[in-house]
Order: sequence, then structure tokens, then C-alpha cells
Amino acid sequence: MKQSDVVKMILAEKWQQYPLHSSATAYAPSNIALCKYWGKRNQELNLPLTSSLSISLREKGAHTQLLINDSQDCIQLNGQVLDNAMPFSQKLLRFVNLFRVRGQPYLTMNIHTNIPIAAGLASSACGFAAIAKALNQLFGWQLSARDLSILARLGSGSASRSLWQGFVEWHAGVREDGMDSFAEDLPTAWPELCVGLVMINHQEKALSSREAMQRTVMTSALYSAWPQKVSTDLSLLKRAIVEKDFLHLGKVTESNALTMHATMLSAWPPITYCLPETLTAMQQVWRMRDEGIAVYFTQDAGPNIKLLFLENDIASIRQNFPTIEIICNKQALNMPATTSSNIIPNPP
Ligand code: DP6
Repeated sequence: MKQSDVVKMILAEKWQQYPLHSSATAYAPSNIALCKYWGKRNQELNLPLTSSLSISLREKGAHTQLLINDSQDCIQLNGQVLDNAMPFSQKLLRFVNLFRVRGQPYLTMNIHTNIPIAAGLASSACGFAAIAKALNQLFGWQLSARDLSILARLGSGSASRSLWQGFVEWHAGVREDGMDSFAEDLPTAWPELCVGLVMINHQEKALSSREAMQRTVMTSALYSAWPQKVSTDLSLLKRAIVEKDFLHLGKVTESNALTMHATMLSAWPPITYCLPETLTAMQQVWRMRDEGIAVYFTQDAGPNIKLLFLENDIASIRQNFPTIEIICNKQALNMPATTSSNIIPNPP
């Protein structure tokens, strides 16, 4: 099954219809997995081997504006026009082409992100989720969040979780067409929970998570233990969220990330996203815990780490990590991301 078959199934008679509007905008937050997605059962459709669970990063994410134009596709990232032949542009155009007839209409895509691209901060997750939402507006499809989650997944697996704020679970599903592999938000809000971004390196990663997870699945002797670990961690995390049990949430999240990184380290050729400073930051977190501060970390496919802690500890966290960027969940969780569009006359 191809990506275009999934798109046809979801859009049915709306597939390849001309856009309803001349422009559309959408925002999607970045998300950080507390229980990671690491390994695919289907490469083409980004179907995962396990379910996963994330927390969204509120105002850290991607704003996307799509505008119909007459001459050619034009991609702008944070105000800079990109060459359409660049791998980033190619990935984006491949996704957008799933919804157009022979590359028409031409689109200007203005993407603004406030997180570094491909530095393990889920930039592709919010990017594809925002594009899927903006396309939904532009074409006037009126798709459900579940269908948008499936479409965003075709761009990047973790994008399926970037349609909501708050806690989000992506169900692995079992179907070959992946129609049961979508994300959903959990009903629980946890306003005191904070995420801190500890930036160690802004640079783009040398090895994509796509390649790294495939190599891990194929070559790591430890990978066979991963699905069981995920299943246990998912239940523990969901219980910790309902009971607002921070110590359990932190412990399971950190252990899940370290186990994922252990599977990569045991792949061949070996993979690590850690820099020496990453390990120093981890040791700093462990030292703080020894001193009685409840703080835990997680790490994705990059050297940066993200801290989890409660609002009460913000002062001591800042003292230990002076450059940390903190995202608090005080304001409304599960708020729908904003979208807008301008009506245009019928297509030519
Ligand atoms: C470590 O979603 O970037 O961040 O589906 O191949 O695009 P593709 O991978 P991607 O992988 C994310 C991996 C992770 C863990 C996670 O976010 O769950």
C-alpha cells in the first residue's frame, strides 16, 4: 500500500479537488515523547511497532501559511526562501504532492518555527502537523482530528501526535492500511507540570531518526525487549498522569528514554546522539535528585535534553541550568490550534 492510497481512502470524493480558499494558516505545537516511538512495522506509511505517548510544547511549534500562486512552488522557512532541490524542501513537496493533481496548484509555503530544525526537538512533527491542518483549511476538506493525525503521520510518525496540546497517545494499530494508527489526546490536564529545554547543540543531526530507528530494529540484540518495555511504561505513565504522581511520571519517562538510547548504542554500526555535554547535563540531573530536587530528563534523536519538573522547583532548576527554556502548562491544555482561511471564488 502506498501513501497515496491512504490519502485517497481518507479524502474519498474530495481527493484532488481544487482548493476552496486562496490561503490558509495553521499552528501545531511540537511534542516530546514520554514513551518513545522507536521502530516501524511499515516504512512507507510510518506505521510504528509500538504505541507512544507525548506531551505537547504549547507555544513552541510551527506556524504555517499556504498561499496559492500562479508560477511555482516556493518554500520559505523563517523568512528565508529555500531551494526546492534541498532535502528538506523535497520532503515537504513529496507530502504536499499527495494532495495535488500533477503538482497543481502552485503553493507558497511560509513556515515559521521557534525551535531548531532537526536537532531532536520534534521540528518535523509540528511542521507536518501544521501543513496537514493548513491543507485541510485550504482545500476545505473538514477532516476530523483523527484523520488529520493519520495524514500528518505520512509526513513523519511523531507528527501524528502534534495535533493537540497536553498529553497525547499514538495508538500503534494493527491494520496494514494504518487506519487504526492515529493519535488522541488524553483528557487529563496537569497545569503544574513543566518541561525545560536544555540546548546543547542547535545543529542539524547527522543521522535522521528514520534511518537510526531502522538500523536499530535490524541490528540491535536489545531491540526485542523494547515492545515489552513500551507496553509496561505506557500503562505506568497513564496511571501516573491520572494520579498526578510526578515521581513515577519522571522515573518512567527517564528510564524509557535511556532504554531507547541503549538499543541504539547496541545497533551496528553503533548510534549515539549524545555529546559529552549531554552526559554532563544528565549527571547534573542525577546530582540534583540526590539533593532532593524532583527533576527527570528525556532525550530524543539529538544531543539536547528536556527536563520534567513541577512549577514549585522552577527556581532551583534555573539555578542549575541558567540557559534553560521553560514551558509551563498553566494555561488551558488541549486547546485546539488556531487556523484561518480566506474564501476565494470557484476554481478555474
Ligand atoms: C526519538 O517521527 O522523526 O523523537 O516517522 O521516520 O519521521 P519518522 O521519525 P520521527 O521519529 C521520532 C523519534 C523520537 C521519539 C518520538 O518522538 O516518539
